[in-house]
Amino acid sequence: MCGIVGYIGTKAATSVLLKGLKCLEYRGYDSSGIALLNDSLFVCKKKGKIIELEKELNGLSKDLSTYTVGIAHTRWATHGEPSDLNAHPHVSSSGKIAVVHNGIIENFQILREKLALKGFKITTQTDSEIIAHLIEYYVDKYNDFLTGVFVALEKLEGTYGIVVVSRDYPDRIIAARNGSPLILGVGEGEIIIASDASAIVEYTRKVIYIDDREVVDIQRDSYQTYDLLQKQVEKPVEDIDWDIETIGKKGYDHFMLKEIFEQVESVKNTCRGRLLTETGTSRLDGLNLKPEDFSEIKRIILIACGTSWHSALIGEYLIEEYARIPVDVEYASEFRYKNPILTKSDLVIVISQSGETADTLAALREAKQKGVKVLGVTNIVGSTIARESDGGVYLHAGPEIGVASTKAFSSQVMVMIMIAIHFARRKDMSLESGQVLIEKIEKLPQLIQSMLDTAGDIKNIAEIYKNASNFLYLGRGVQFPVALEGALKLKEISYIHAEGYPAAEMKHGPIALIDENLPVVFIALKDSIYGKIVSNMQEVRARGGKIIAIATEGDNEISNYADHVIFVPDVDRMLSPILTVVPLQLLSYYIAVMRGCNVDQPRNLAKSVTVE
Ligand code: M6R
Repeated sequence: MCGIVGYIGTKAATSVLLKGLKCLEYRGYDSSGIALLNDSLFVCKKKGKIIELEKELNGLSKDLSTYTVGIAHTRWATHGEPSDLNAHPHVSSSGKIAVVHNGIIENFQILREKLALKGFKITTQTDSEIIAHLIEYYVDKYNDFLTGVFVALEKLEGTYGIVVVSRDYPDRIIAARNGSPLILGVGEGEIIIASDASAIVEYTRKVIYIDDREVVDIQRDSYQTYDLLQKQVEKPVEDIDWDIETIGKKGYDHFMLKEIFEQVESVKNTCRGRLLTETGTSRLDGLNLKPEDFSEIKRIILIACGTSWHSALIGEYLIEEYARIPVDVEYASEFRYKNPILTKSDLVIVISQSGETADTLAALREAKQKGVKVLGVTNIVGSTIARESDGGVYLHAGPEIGVASTKAFSSQVMVMIMIAIHFARRKDMSLESGQVLIEKIEKLPQLIQSMLDTAGDIKNIAEIYKNASNFLYLGRGVQFPVALEGALKLKEISYIHAEGYPAAEMKHGPIALIDENLPVVFIALKDSIYGKIVSNMQEVRARGGKIIAIATEGDNEISNYADHVIFVPDVDRMLSPILTVVPLQLLSYYIAVMRGCNVDQPRNLAKSVTVE
C-alpha cells in the first residue's frame, strides 16, 4: 500500500526521505516521488522502483543537499495508471502546495468539477490531486496555512493520511489522518512523520500515534496536535522497542525466507510468559475480560482477511474443540456491510497482522457500534486496531516485511491456541487436561525447527513442479484452513493458480481438473480420518495426478499413495497446523524464486491494505 514520509530538521531531507521510502518498499508500490522545500518547492516523481527516482535526482545539476524540509511517497495505484504524472506528491495549480496522500477520496469527482470551475488545472487521473488544489484555495482564502488545511479537510469524504507543505510556510509541515495511519517521530531538533514506524526508527524511538480525525502542525522542534474542531489534543509520546537491525535480511536472500526461518523464535516470543504449567492455562491479561464475562459469552465471532482469515478458521476448530463455544468466522469485508446480527452475549475477535486493514477496522467499528465487546489480535503495537479494540493479544512476532505473511500466521495460530485453552479452562477443561496441553504447546517451537530442516527436500520438489500452471491443496478438519493458506501463499508470490479445498469436496467438482499436469498437495496426517484422506489420494492417483503429501513421521504406508512425502512430527492433531504450514510456505517460496518472481514484493499486492 502507499507509503508516506515527511521530514523537517537539520539533515539533508533528500537522503532521509529516500531512506524512509526504502523502508516502506515492502508495503508494495508502483511509483514514487519527493517534494523538497525552502523558499521554492522542488518536485520529482518517477514511475517504477525508488531506484528510478534516485537516478533522476542524481542526474540533476541542482544541489539538493541544502533542503532540510520535504515530503515523499510511494504510490500503489487506485485511481489512474502508475505513471510519473499520477505519482505523488501532487502540486496545486500555482505550485504553492504539495501533498502526499494515502487512502481514497470518495467525493473526488464532485470536488474536481468544482475546482475546475474555480480555474484550477487538474492534470492527473488521481483522486489525491484535488487535495492540493483544495488546500491552496482555502489557505489563500483564510490567509493561514493551518486554517486552510482544516477547512479543506471538512470538504473531503473518504479516507486519508496526508502530509502537506506550502512554499509560503517553508518551516512547517501539516499532516492529518482519517483512516490511514500516520506516526510522528520526535527527534532532537527534527521531526519525521511516516505511515509506518519502520521509516522512523533509524532517527528516533519516541513516537506519537496520530489518531483518526486529528491534525498535526509540525515545526523543527515542536508540534501541536488538534482534533478536526481545531481543539488542541495532548498526545502521549510512546517508545518503539525494536530497531532497524531487527528488520534487516540477516544474510537471507529474501525477507520472506528469513521470516519463515524465524518461526521457531517468533512463535516462542508469542508464548513467552503466557503459558502457565501449574494452572494448565494461558495468561492473556490484555483480553481485559472479567471472570463474569466468560460465563456470559455464548458465541465468538472471528473476523479477518486473507491469511489472518485462515488463522481465524483454525481458531474456530480450536475454540470449538477445547472451549466448546460456538464460533463463526467472517470475512471482514462481508461482515461490515451485512448488518450483522449481534447480541450482548457475543464476543468479537478481529485478527490482523498489520492492525491497519481497512475492512477489518471497519468490521471492528461496526461491532463496537452495535455494543459488542471487540478484542484485537495484531502484531503491531499501537496500530489502529490495537488502539480501538477493548482488549486483545499482541503477536510479538517481530516486524514482518515480506508481503506474503508467514511468521505472523504461525503466531496468530499460537494466539488462537492460547485463547482456546484460556476459555476452555474457564469452562469444562480439567486442570490435568490443561496441563497436558500446555506441555504439548511448549514443545511446538522446537518442532518447527524439524519442519525447517526439510527445506532441502522441498526445494527439490519445487524444482520438479515449478512450471505447473495449477496446484490443488487438500486437507480435512483443522488442516483444511492450512490447505487454503498453502494455496494462497503459492498464488500470491509465484502467480500460479492454486486452490485449497476440504479433501472430501474434491469429488464434488475439482476432481474434473485432475490429470498428470496437476500437482496436488495433501495434508494427510495419521488421525481418525486418515483412511478417508488416503481414499481421496487414490482417486487423484487413478487419474494421473501428482501427489505431494505432508504426512506423520513413522507413516510407512503413505509412500504407496504419494509421489513425494514430507514428514511432520507426530503431534496433537489440533496443534499440528503450526507445523504443517511450514513446508507449504517453503514450497511457495522456492517455486516463486525459481520462476524469477519478486518474492518480497509480489505484483499488485500490498503489505497492509488500508483501502477498501
Ligand atoms: O494485516 P492483515 O493481517 O489484516 O492483512 C490481511 C491480508 O491482507 C493479508 O493476510 C494478505 O492476505 C497477505 N498478503 C497474506 O500473505
